[in-house]
Amino acid sequence: MVISATTDYRAAAQAKLPPFLFHYIDGGSYTETTLKNNVSDLQDIALKQKVLNDMSELSLEHDVFGEKLSMPVVLSPVGLTGMYARRGEVQAAKAAEKMGIPFTMSTVSVCPIEEVTPAIKRPMWFQLYVLKDREFMKNVLERAKAAGVTTLVFTVDMPTPGARYRDMHSGMSGPYAEFRRVMQAVAHPSWAMDVGLLGKPHDLGNISAYRNKTTKLGDYIGWLGDNFDTSISWQDLEWIREFWDGPLIIKGILDVEDAKDAVRFGADGIVVSNHGGRQLDGVMSSAKALPLIADAVKGDIKLFVDSGIRSGLDVVRMLALGADCTMLGRSYIYALAARGQQGVEHLLSLYQNEIRVAMTLTGAKSIGEIGNHSIARAM
Ligand SMILES: Cc1cc2nc3c(=O)[nH]c(=O)nc-3n(C[C@H](O)[C@H](O)[C@H](O)COP(=O)(O)O)c2cc1C
Repeated sequence: MVISATTDYRAAAQAKLPPFLFHYIDGGSYTETTLKNNVSDLQDIALKQKVLNDMSELSLEHDVFGEKLSMPVVLSPVGLTGMYARRGEVQAAKAAEKMGIPFTMSTVSVCPIEEVTPAIKRPMWFQLYVLKDREFMKNVLERAKAAGVTTLVFTVDMPTPGARYRDMHSGMSGPYAEFRRVMQAVAHPSWAMDVGLLGKPHDLGNISAYRNKTTKLGDYIGWLGDNFDTSISWQDLEWIREFWDGPLIIKGILDVEDAKDAVRFGADGIVVSNHGGRQLDGVMSSAKALPLIADAVKGDIKLFVDSGIRSGLDVVRMLALGADCTMLGRSYIYALAARGQQGVEHLLSLYQNEIRVAMTLTGAKSIGEIGNHSIARAM
């Protein structure tokens, strides 16, 4: 197969991964309505074609908190990345570095912080969940600082995990889950050899380092369920602001008033996100929520967005809807699962080219020139 787009990488990932892993990545919560709307609402945005503008000089570069990005794209945090490709967090971080953009490590990564940062020269970003065990949060933040992490992404839309019924069908959870996972691995020998055998330890690296004992995949759902904190409120975030002196981004904002609160709180950025449709099904897609939030807070805070981006064209659509910068979740994970670091680099270069083409044909010579005027309005 000639791999040319996200849909091809998704198909290649599905062929390679045991179903419990593919569906864990691919799925959303409940009926997956928000997951579908994230993609279709964004693809419905028509850009305005503008021609004959001498587009020979064009720049995709973008500055985020003093860091130069080759394009306005960041890799979103994705848990268990080291289960989709051998030491997956290291491969993704290397690909991001090669393509000139930041990689964000998830709290619940397979590789610990200390395994990834020595493999790259570019500073890594780190994502933190709100957890009951505040000592773990402090410990991991101290380790992130010591490892040279620059930017903290604080995820607030997971005080409790959403109901993901696909996981119960696929063997990620539910009856005989462990037995089913083993049987699926046996039926997918290239994954079983490459990741199952050679990609060990299959551990939650950051959590094991803190607990001083191995935290296995089987403990993952249980650990998350026991540790997510439904009591969290804005006041609880004060100590994070005091503790973390670098840029702080709050991820998982979908409401205008919450966005205004994030500005009042003193966050440096927000990610308009519904966690890729994995939390509360039925909430608004990011493409619909973003313009409302941009109207209220654009210019007061750096506006990131994720959920539903499947191409470079979608990146431009999100910028036209008001984002300053975009983040990718599933799309880069499909490429990573299919072809490792090389796949992610390839996917990002396809996106880069699509952004360039879209800018050329909408008459935007720099990222800052993409805006609301880039959207076509029906008469
Ligand atoms: C398999 C998977 C695991 C994820 N794990 C995390 C995580 O650990 N922390 C987090 O903040 N978001 C996590 N997310 C959400 C992503 O960061 C991002 O918000 C979402 O994937 C964006 O939607 P998209 O996949 O449509 O691009 C995860 C998403 C997926 C698909």
